[in-house]
Amino acid sequence: MAQIPSIETRQLTRRFGARLAVDNLDLQVAAGEIFGLLGPNGAGKTTTIRMLTTLLQPTSGDARVAGFDLRHEAFEVRRHIGYVPQMLSADPELTGYENLLLFSKLYRVPASERKPRIAEALDFMQITDSANKLVRHYSGGMIRRLEIAQSLVNRPDILFLDEPTVGLDPTGRHSVWERLQALWKKWNTTILMTTHYMDEAEALCHRVAFIQLGRIMELGTPAELKAKLGPGATLDDVFIHLSGSEQQEADGFHSTIGERRSIQRHG
Ligand SMILES: Nc1ncnc2c1ncn2[C@@H]1O[C@H](COP(=O)(O)OP(=O)(O)O)[C@@H](O)[C@H]1O
Ligand SMILES: [Mg+2]
Repeated sequence: MAQIPSIETRQLTRRFGARLAVDNLDLQVAAGEIFGLLGPNGAGKTTTIRMLTTLLQPTSGDARVAGFDLRHEAFEVRRHIGYVPQMLSADPELTGYENLLLFSKLYRVPASERKPRIAEALDFMQITDSANKLVRHYSGGMIRRLEIAQSLVNRPDILFLDEPTVGLDPTGRHSVWERLQALWKKWNTTILMTTHYMDEAEALCHRVAFIQLGRIMELGTPAELKAKLGPGATLDDVFIHLSGSEQQEADGFHSTIGERRSIQRHG
């Protein structure tokens, strides 16, 4: 694993009115690392990702992403990243190919390179056979793989995935895991992901950070965090130990509704 950090935040902070969503976050993710942000609904995971992908301005603090300054080199940051949001980002009324073409234009892939890059992304995500079908006929796992393919046309050094398998059945989840591992093996892509599934964090993430109320509570490898809690502890035990206050639960209500909606849309 390379030692140069791919993502480095310094006191990264975001407020929404009186609410401190991300609170002086200091985080380093090494190049080639798969890093998981874990924590209850409303912890600040999505807000962190939206700042690091230049979609949301930090209130204070700064960050370097792929070596570029988030505030002053946002265009360069965007050129080096891919982002798969939590909500549905593929258009169900277009074919897989048409969705990829749209994204290759959004990412400003040169016209002459679009076709080969789309073919590469389709092939890699194993959806070539369905490229000309409307996305509304895809399974949930295929839609997620298409959405990852959409981000791949940019050939990202860093991939941001917000709850990549929410709402998928076990077959769909495992197909996404398998492709993400293959992606990492082939291109050594740095991945920053969020998940509520502790088995997913264990299967994919080299290190994880548990965040609550915008702050890091614990950070380490899944094995380190389990060992810290005691013999026989699971990552679920660690999650429950670190979170679970009723205030936070109540706070997560709106996020939960959003999540359910996206589950429904993913089928
Ligand atoms: N656009 C917004 N306007 C106001 N509050 C927001 C907005 N986005 C997120 N928040 C609040 O910021 C906190 C963190 O939210 P979020 O980053 O979505 O958490 P997570 O992804 O960990 O569930 C929550 O309290 C949420 O209600
Ligand atoms: Mg979220």
